[in-house]
Amino acid sequence: MKKWTILFAIVLLLMNGFYHFTVADHDEHNEKKEHKKSSDKHDEHGNKHHFNVVNIPKYKEHCGACHFPYQAELLPSGSWEKILSGTDNHFGEKIEIDPDSKNIISKYLKNSAADYSSIKLSSKIMKSLGNQTPMRITDIPYIKKKHNDISPNILNNKSISIGSLSNCSACHKTADQGIYKDDNVTIPK
Ligand code: HEC
Ligand code: HEC
Repeated sequence: MKKWTILFAIVLLLMNGFYHFTVADHDEHNEKKEHKKSSDKHDEHGNKHHFNVVNIPKYKEHCGACHFPYQAELLPSGSWEKILSGTDNHFGEKIEIDPDSKNIISKYLKNSAADYSSIKLSSKIMKSLGNQTPMRITDIPYIKKKHNDISPNILNNKSISIGSLSNCSACHKTADQGIYKDDNVTIPK
């Protein structure tokens, strides 16, 4: 009786092993294919280094009315919370916004904030912030460092009309696509 049980167990084990062997082979194949597909996609769009394009109409309408609609991935959720709870005095301006729109905007900003994003630039931003939650992107140490060489004369020059470093899209021609790479930057003259 005992012998039979052991033999049966061995047969089961062998079958199991064989099954795994063939399935594993199959899986590996698929994985390779998948991998190839995703790396192709990486080459085409180079995502992961770029922010997602903002496609929330309410966000663009309300938060892109006075300035470039900054991607959520640029600030941590704590910063966005502060900004949204201070719409009555937003850098000296009052933002008129209905509660429904504010809800939609709040969801977008918090879900895609730098601390929830896997995009490389967001990680760099988070790392440089430590536990600060600034109200401005232009107060982030990493962003400040990247723009150290830009002289205030250029920013303040009325005839060029960049206005300030907050005007990302004046120099980053592909900012609306979430791309801030060095090769897509031109400082207007
Ligand atoms: C009525 C105009 C107006 C609206 C609408 C508006 N802002 Fe602003 N925002 C400003 C001004 C003015 C500044 C300061 C710009 C400067 O100093 O150059 C600013 C600055 C900012 C900054 C900091 C930029 C930096 O320097 O890093 C963030 C972030 C920001 N706004 C987010 C938002 C969000 C989110 C919304 C929508 C809820 C919004 N803004 C809607 C006027 C506005
Ligand atoms: C006056 C022009 C100008 C403005 C305005 C500006 N930038 Fe830049 N930015 C530059 C230049 C030039 C560089 C390249 C610096 C270098 O050579 O490393 C740069 C670099 C960067 C980088 C690093 C890119 C990389 O590949 O390492 C990021 C991220 C960035 N900017 C984000 C922003 C954001 C966000 C804003 C708006 C809040 C902004 N910039 C506003 C000119 C500008």
